[in-house]
Formats: sequence, C-alpha cells, structure tokens
Amino acid sequence: MDGPLILGIETSCDETAAAVVAGGARRLSNVVLSQVPVHRLYGGIVPELASREHLRGIVPIVRQALEKAEVELAAVDAIAVTRGPGLAGALLVGITYAKALALAAGKPLIGVHHLAGHIHAVLLDRREQGLPEPEWPAVALVVSGGHTALFRVARHANGGFEYQLLGQTRDDAAGEAGDKVAKLLGLGYPGGPVIDRLAEHGDERAVTFTRPKLKGADRDLDFSFSGLKTAVLRYTQTHPLAAGIAARQALTAGGAKPPLEALRAACDAETLNLIASFQYAVARELSEKTVAAAERIGAAGILLTGGVAANRRLRRELTATAAARGWEVMAPPIALCTDNAAMIAAAAAPQYALADFATWDLPASPQLALAAR
Ligand code: KG4
Ligand code: ZN
Repeated sequence: MDGPLILGIETSCDETAAAVVAGGARRLSNVVLSQVPVHRLYGGIVPELASREHLRGIVPIVRQALEKAEVELAAVDAIAVTRGPGLAGALLVGITYAKALALAAGKPLIGVHHLAGHIHAVLLDRREQGLPEPEWPAVALVVSGGHTALFRVARHANGGFEYQLLGQTRDDAAGEAGDKVAKLLGLGYPGGPVIDRLAEHGDERAVTFTRPKLKGADRDLDFSFSGLKTAVLRYTQTHPLAAGIAARQALTAGGAKPPLEALRAACDAETLNLIASFQYAVARELSEKTVAAAERIGAAGILLTGGVAANRRLRRELTATAAARGWEVMAPPIALCTDNAAMIAAAAAPQYALADFATWDLPASPQLALAAR
C-alpha cells in the first residue's frame, strides 16, 4: 500500500478512538470506545466525565488499534490527533497522549481538524471500495451532535484540500436538536438513533412546522433548529401527550436503555406522528439547503457525513432531492459517520504529504473553525 501508515487518535467528544490507516485509503484497524453508557445516566454529555473516561481509555484503545492492525508503533510514519473543535478537557487527553507517543517514538505529529476528519471519512470509504475520488469542487454537509455546516471542498494544486464555509447552524446542531427532542419525549439519550427507528411508524406529514426565517441576505444557507425544538415542546404542552411521556421517562429512568419495541409500545399514534414529522422537518431543511449550496457553487457532487448522516430518512431525502437535480450523494457507512479515529488518520495523509506537521506546543482548540466564509 502506497502512502504513509498513520496512527490516528480522536478524543474530541465522547468516544475514545484510535485507528491505523494506510495511505488514507485502507483501515488496518478502527477502535472506538463509546462513553454513552456513562453519560446516559445524566441525559447528555458531562464534560468532566468525558475527560476522565478518555484518560482511562486512551492507552488501552491505542494499544488495541496497533494490535488489531498488527503494526508496531515503530512502523508507523506519523501520529495524527484531533486538535479541535471539541470539549477542551477531552481534546487535551488525546493531544497530550499523542505528543508523548510521538516524542517517545520519534515520529512526526499531525494536528487534524475534527470536521476535516468527518469529510475525509467519505474519501476513505470510497478508496476502500475502489471508487474514484469525487470530482471537485464538492459540497460537504457535516451534520452531527456538535456541528451542522456546509462546506465547499476542493483540491489545492499542491495536493492538499481547501475548504470554504457556506453555511452553519446559528443555534443547535441538528443532532443536538434531535437529542433534546428525544429527551423531552422521554426517549432517553442519545435520541437520534431512537427517533430514526420510531419515525418509520409515524406519519411525517401529520404535523407541519414553520420553517425558520434567517436574517441576512448572504446567510441563506445557515440553519436554525432551536425553533423546531421549541415547537415540539409546545406541541407536547398543547396536546394530551403527558401520560405517554411520563411512561417513557419511567422506562428510560436512571440511564436505562429499554428495547426499542418497549419504547414503541409506549408511544401512541400522535407521538409517533410528532417524531416522524420532526425528523422529516430536519431532513428536508438539511437536504434543501445542501442542494441549494451545490447549485450555488456549481458543485460536482455532494458529501454527507457526521453522526446524523447515519439517519436513514436524511439519507433518503438528500439522495432524492439531489438526484432530481443531477447530483450524486456520497456518504460513508455508519461506523465512519459517527466519531472515529480512522477519519482523523485519513485526513492526516494529505497533510503528511505536505509535511504539515504540528509543533510540540500544539494547543487544544475547542472553538477551531475549519474555514472562513
Ligand atoms: O458525529 P457524532 O458521533 O459526534 C459529534 O461529533 O457530535 O454525532 C453524534 C450525534 C448525536 O446527536 C446522535 O443522536 C446523532 O449523531 N445520531 C443520529 C443517528 N445516529 C447518531 N441522529 C439521527 N439518526 C441517527 N440514526
Ligand atoms: Zn464528530
């Protein structure tokens, strides 16, 4: 396999992850330790606990990644780590450990932007499948629990990648809105995957939500999801849904994860319709703006990535909306959509080729932007 052998480390949020990727094109290993069972008790991510869990997990997870890849640390060409954005304390664990490893093994260190990682997950998957590289420029919709943004992605003449911000959420990320809606409906945490499954049993046209109005002439590709979340809350207050919510809260109390069938049985038709309508509103908003962005920049294709890209309704809606105007949607499998370190190692490959190495004073950058408008 041509290209550098890179050990990737990702600790920006609530997964402790390590992976070995060859040439940005083949996963030799991809180990993810999810902290969901820890945070579920609290109904959301507790930053302090995330840092502590990363500290416990980082050494064994990196070891596992090397073992599964059957690669000695000495054989690795570089160590790549997420430098931001993310939770400060969580990032610090990965960065500090990556620095220590790189120093001890005499390897270069590469700092990777988390969202560049999500975008490169698409490219890694295509290379693994033997598919051609997308044509550039492309529009990338990065949609997760922490981010919802549209980027123009192109290849620089030097082989590197360049990004331009086309739009982003002004309040909640799409995944965050889903998790909050799930919480207020008593569906537990994280709610995205549960909404995905329950929505197929509801009528997505049952409840009509008004679309957000965004001020600013040049900001029409921005998103806003907090109004939608509030509309769902208002709906629960003005319709007889309280008993059902209480019943589901009892099922999910104390961080319990009931079988999906039990949750479904505790949902009446009106609740299922509300869930389906909410999911559809999010999927439609994301899809229409993504296609509008593709139109605006004359994109050759559309990349869909991030944890919420696992949502089946979003995939279907975006694929259909894009196909109607002649665009293909490229999205990785779910294991590469949600946070992982293979995407970090893959994004580091073109940086390696450019000798874009980090210095030993590499900081953790919780608010790091990928690109300007
Ligand atoms: O990319 P990710 O693993 O972490 C962040 O960088 O945020 O994304 C996690 C988010 C959570 O909000 C989770 O509820 C959402 O992705 N998610 C989903 C699905 N699977 C994960 N949302 C909707 N449908 C899904 N199938
Ligand atoms: Zn992410």
